[in-house]
Amino acid sequence: MTQVLCVAGARPNFMKIAPVMAALAETGIAAQLLHTGQHYDAAMSDSFFADLGIPRPEHHLEVGSGSHAVQTAEVMKRFEPVLETVQPQAVLVVGDVNSTLACALVAAKHGVRVIHVEAGLRSYDRGMPEEINRVLTDQISDLLFITEKSALANLVREGIDPARVEFVGNVMIDTLYRNLERAVPASHTLGTLLPQYAVLTLHRPSNVDDPDTLAALLDVIGEINRSLPVAMPLHPRTRGNIEKFGFTARLDGLHILPPLGYLEMLGLMRDAKLVLTDSGGIQEETTALGVPCLTLRENTERPITLTEGTNTLVGPDPAAIRAAFSDVMSNGGKAGRIPEYWDGRAAMRIAYTLKGWLPQRKGASAISGIKAA
Ligand code: UD1
Repeated sequence: MTQVLCVAGARPNFMKIAPVMAALAETGIAAQLLHTGQHYDAAMSDSFFADLGIPRPEHHLEVGSGSHAVQTAEVMKRFEPVLETVQPQAVLVVGDVNSTLACALVAAKHGVRVIHVEAGLRSYDRGMPEEINRVLTDQISDLLFITEKSALANLVREGIDPARVEFVGNVMIDTLYRNLERAVPASHTLGTLLPQYAVLTLHRPSNVDDPDTLAALLDVIGEINRSLPVAMPLHPRTRGNIEKFGFTARLDGLHILPPLGYLEMLGLMRDAKLVLTDSGGIQEETTALGVPCLTLRENTERPITLTEGTNTLVGPDPAAIRAAFSDVMSNGGKAGRIPEYWDGRAAMRIAYTLKGWLPQRKGASAISGIKAA
């Protein structure tokens, strides 16, 4: 009998599901993995399964790309019969992508308990599709695992019983520690040895879907590149828009790379002087690595990376990016420290909690959930 049906769908899910699957196996919890196929390119999906040793999914929904409504609806339609066949005791979802919400919603309507890993993060920006996914997934989750304590206050504000919330730390950082020694050196990925360089990632719709915003960002990056070489792995959405808007010449002089595998990206970040990003996960990974990070967004749902980590919220404004960059160049950037429970053991905490929780009735609280105080 399958106890937990685990769901992953898009690139940022894979590094979160890997340690969870391993910890469930280690503690003897019967789990199956389902891939929705939200991300399907070899570079966006298969390479992560290989690099991280994630077991081959028992189920693959092959939904592919589409508008938010189409993609979410397709996942729901195709997930329902699988859920009916497998009849797990619980469905475990991670993160905040469309697949996360879609599967949580189907499970909740079927009366199957929902476990959300990385619950409670809030940007308070409802213009972000991920924020909608976070709020709604948390509302219908029975057990909510959080990566930082600020998430508890967010959940309580939304009326969620703190007894259902458990502070376990960050499973994505479990994966980071587990693979640091295997990380591919940057010189290998870049094809050359750069004494110092920056890494840039951009893929948020708010940064890359509007031509004026994207042009201004690429121009200021071009300036930075003249004093510190910039390596930029290109997300398919960003590449597509750069081509569509006729901005290809704006990439001249940058080290443009394809989407990288996990071990290549880890090595590239580890050896960098600075990372500029609009990703959520990279804000956390740079904090764990102790590498300064400038976040090119107006807000972050991961405030601990600002208060304790190496992250600085800069936004998309070129003048602010220029100023923050020269700050890093003159004083080396924020040092930071490792947040509580980002210690490589988060997935084991989840598995031990589930050991006690799974046999309980629906509606039961977590075993030792951190309390609102
Ligand atoms: C999704 C997640 C976002 C996450 C990001 C990481 C949602 C709402 N968004 O955004 O939270 O940070 O993944 O990458 O779930 N494409 C390919 N190959 C692929 C996948 C996508 O070429 O394997 C192209 C398609 O043209 C697609 C576009 O990229 O339309 C965007 O993909 P999509 O999954 O819709 O959203 P992301 O921008 O990747």
